[in-house]
Amino acid sequence: MRTLVIYYSFSGSTRLIAERIAAATGGRVLELEMQNPIPERGFGKFFRAGGQALMRSTPVLNPLAMQPAGYDLLFIGTPVWAGTLAPPLRTFLRDVELAGKAIALFCCHGGGGPSRTFAHLRKALAGNRVVSEIAFYDPRKHNTDTQIAEAEAWARQVQTSQDGG
Ligand SMILES: Cc1cc2nc3c(=O)[nH]c(=O)nc-3n(C[C@H](O)[C@H](O)[C@H](O)COP(=O)(O)O)c2cc1C
Repeated sequence: MRTLVIYYSFSGSTRLIAERIAAATGGRVLELEMQNPIPERGFGKFFRAGGQALMRSTPVLNPLAMQPAGYDLLFIGTPVWAGTLAPPLRTFLRDVELAGKAIALFCCHGGGGPSRTFAHLRKALAGNRVVSEIAFYDPRKHNTDTQIAEAEAWARQVQTSQDGG
């Protein structure tokens, strides 16, 4: 089963999980990057990131390194920002037509849980089959090994279930 892991990450937690999912499933990775990225250092980052999240904005992305069209199973991951998906995912879902895919959702949060993230993603992904979802608590900082193991086991189980196995 051709598997693609699509994600955005600001501070690395979602990237960590995305890369382990790809390794566990033999999938490829597509990282969404803002054309005008938010600097990782300095206090201003919270204003920009928080403002984008609250405004439900759709920042311009760099051209995608690959297209999801040729893949059957997509893992889609985002950090939780202001209780929902991060803006680069919103841009991606607006601009890329996805239909008839099996999709597994994952998110990383800072202790507030997924809030409305999965509900909003499911709504934006109407016309596809969302087969599973899982949330992680800042895995770069908390219980890293345990959460990585959980992500790998989950990803394999999702893939096996879609293989019909
Ligand atoms: C602008 C912004 C808004 C955030 N909003 C929330 C939130 O509503 N709930 C929550 O639990 N964590 C929130 N967080 C924390 C992140 O979801 C959490 O640190 C996540 O693991 C970061 O993933 P990343 O390292 O892939 O960017 C927010 C972080 C930022 C920068």
